Amino acid sequence: MQVVQTKKNQKVVVLGTGGTIAGTGRSAGDHTAYTAGQVSVQHLLEALPGLEDSLQGHALFCEQVAQLDSKDMDHVTWQSLAQRALHWLNQADVVGMVITHGTDTLEETAWFLQKVLDTHKPVVLTCAMRPATALAPDGPQNMLDALAVACHPQARGVLVVCAGSIHGAGEVQKIHPYRLDAFASETGPRGWVEQGQVRWTGLCQAPELHARAPQVLTQAVTHWPWVEVLHSHAGADERRVRALVAAGVNGLVVAGTGNGTVHQSLLGALVQAQLQGVAVRVTSRCAQGQIVGQPGVLPLAPLGLNAYKARVSLMLDLMVI
Ligand code: SIN
Repeated sequence: MQVVQTKKNQKVVVLGTGGTIAGTGRSAGDHTAYTAGQVSVQHLLEALPGLEDSLQGHALFCEQVAQLDSKDMDHVTWQSLAQRALHWLNQADVVGMVITHGTDTLEETAWFLQKVLDTHKPVVLTCAMRPATALAPDGPQNMLDALAVACHPQARGVLVVCAGSIHGAGEVQKIHPYRLDAFASETGPRGWVEQGQVRWTGLCQAPELHARAPQVLTQAVTHWPWVEVLHSHAGADERRVRALVAAGVNGLVVAGTGNGTVHQSLLGALVQAQLQGVAVRVTSRCAQGQIVGQPGVLPLAPLGLNAYKARVSLMLDLMVI
């Protein structure tokens, strides 16, 4: 759907997937009991003041790929999002893309897209912490900022724009359930958007594609490997591991304590799971830093990834060619 037409023949595309940015509440003061994923992406764009300025002469197209609360994000939606994103990104006149998304699983979708989209063009995920019906919604500014990044000639890879900061897909994490500035990267943001101007902290790198990216686009989601996240904690019970193995799980990512240690009651069951062919990877529950050395017998997930992104990576690793 074309939203803005210009003389310039280069385009920016916005894909909508729902989230709070498209949410509606019963009153303007409602910031928590609203329903996410209600307003179409076309409507959000048409209602956006200052849209033409942030497009810098580019034409604007949009497409609604999904309409959900991102707590319910699923692999079917991920596959169609990746397919639709590539459909547009492969067109020579498309310079960049924005994807509207709920904040709750945004970092997982960002990492998934980073690994499966074979493109040098920027893909910018944006979101909101307040619904579109709020007295002072944050979605409109986030959308304008994301468009400015998507049009920027230095932008590369999958990026996340929220509250004026630009984050990389690998580092970004949701760190707050309510604040407008809900995301952080331990390494700091990749840049900022200030009054429509993009200021980078360094060079944007083109992302490294996963070897299984082609399978992700074509293989039926029902055949994707089943990978779960387990947390190690006080009172952890090995029966969880045994139940998952008995149910046919293909991979387990363990969010370990501290430097990637795992409760002794889980450890034996995880070693046994490995012997039975289940791929096990360990990460840390800590919100910052990465595991140092090799703290135990189980293999580590790629360093620096949180458990939820490590789950995505392991799922891709286990995908059958
Ligand atoms: C969601 O993740 O879809 C709801 C929460 C949000 O977008 O902030």
